[in-house]
Amino acid sequence: MISTRLIVDSDFVVSDLDRRLFGTFVEHMGRCVYTGIYEPGHPTADKRGFRQDVMALSRELGATIVRYPGGNFLSGYNWEDGVGPKDQRPVRLDLAWYSKETNQFGTNEFMEWCREIGAEPMFAVNLGTRGPDEARHFLEYCNHPSGTALSDLRRQHGYEEPHDIKFWCLGNEMDGPWQICMKTADEYGRVAKETAKLMRMVDPTVQLAACGSSKHDMPTFGTWEDKVLDHCFDEVDFISLHTYFENPHNSTAEFLGNIDQTDLFIKEIVAVADSVAARKHSHKRIMLSFDEWNVWYKARTVSDKHKPGWPEAPRLIEEVYNHEDALAVGGALIVMMNNADRVKSACLAQLVNVIGPIMTEPGGPAWRQTIFYPFSQASRYARGRVLRPIIQSPTYKAKTFPEIPYLCASVLHDDASGQTAIFALNRHLTDEQEINIELRGLGDQQRLVEASELDHADMKATNTMAAPNTVVPNRNTAVQLDGHRLTARLKPGSWNVIVTTNAKPA
Ligand code: AHR
Repeated sequence: MISTRLIVDSDFVVSDLDRRLFGTFVEHMGRCVYTGIYEPGHPTADKRGFRQDVMALSRELGATIVRYPGGNFLSGYNWEDGVGPKDQRPVRLDLAWYSKETNQFGTNEFMEWCREIGAEPMFAVNLGTRGPDEARHFLEYCNHPSGTALSDLRRQHGYEEPHDIKFWCLGNEMDGPWQICMKTADEYGRVAKETAKLMRMVDPTVQLAACGSSKHDMPTFGTWEDKVLDHCFDEVDFISLHTYFENPHNSTAEFLGNIDQTDLFIKEIVAVADSVAARKHSHKRIMLSFDEWNVWYKARTVSDKHKPGWPEAPRLIEEVYNHEDALAVGGALIVMMNNADRVKSACLAQLVNVIGPIMTEPGGPAWRQTIFYPFSQASRYARGRVLRPIIQSPTYKAKTFPEIPYLCASVLHDDASGQTAIFALNRHLTDEQEINIELRGLGDQQRLVEASELDHADMKATNTMAAPNTVVPNRNTAVQLDGHRLTARLKPGSWNVIVTTNAKPA
């Protein structure tokens, strides 16, 4: 057994948490939309073709914001193809995923779906094959009340009220050679600036995110952010970052080092953005939109290869997640929460089937992958303000990161409910961890609300259609409270959620 300490004080605050940290992503890719969220004829489908089983799981997941419609798909997308009468919508070649796009699901369907699961929409404009002109028209269609050709077209399509979409991404991964119409940092920075300018003229209330690097190891990482922000610093609110965790050495200990690497990635981008601010003598601070992140390495092949016949909704990157993937996802959430002063939105990519926490079979059931649980628990309990955690823990060395504490943790306190939520990962893979927690200034008579653990003897254990409940959270009975001091035993290689309250029992 190893022993660790975690101390928080109500006066030492990282930031209020922006609940948009618990976002997800729906791309027109593989079976995320078609036979994922939308499947007319499915036994649970409503009259619009929305699968109610997937809707229920999306609500349970607790997605607060959902990015749409891509992804790489975005850079060849014409928004006009996906609105209006369905029988008049064109079928197109999707050059990003070598698939056929029927456009039976588009902007208005997404808006209905999104609002119904209780999430905010995060839209993206195509800055690959298209540019500022289409972006301003798309925004006018969506957000302008009435009395112009495009706003009246929306009304004619059955949407009298404007959609009032606040969050917009300016393109997707424009630094990537795989992108349809990739750009250099200067080319993209210029077009992002002009697009943002026009979009704000149409609707000054929008929030805009410029594309940062597609991953930390892009050769242009750092200089890309610097040059892009040099152009569009005044016009945008966010810079994006994307990360997909890999496990090249098939080593859980190495794999979990991705979590610390992500913390560094965030801090490096903040440093670059703030150096641009310094150069411009500006007090403005650019925030981070972590708008694609997940584990993705097992189902990497064939997704980007030319497929004969341009299939409709093929099975693409349907990664089956295991227990260690759930630990990595929990750890990433901890890192994002601990950087809540600068990370204001994030999207687990993607929602269904395509590297998704939810899986479906066409005509069949839907189930929760292992990674569903840390996300849904964090979304449920992480509220209020993030407290700065003081962690005293033994460490280990890995190639992915030089010094990794066995304890990875985040603590939040919500004044409204009096609840304190502790999220903790035991990264020791053979030993239990006794964690001693001091909750200073949060009330001396804490009571336990929830104590759960996600653990499994087999790091490679998965949830499948045949066995959907192999990896599920259980109650942790080894938690003791004494005033504001808490002691818990965390199983080796486990994700843990402990919630206390200072509110008097009713
Ligand atoms: O999420 C899958 C793909 O990963 C997205 O389309 C792209 O933006 C990223 O490279």
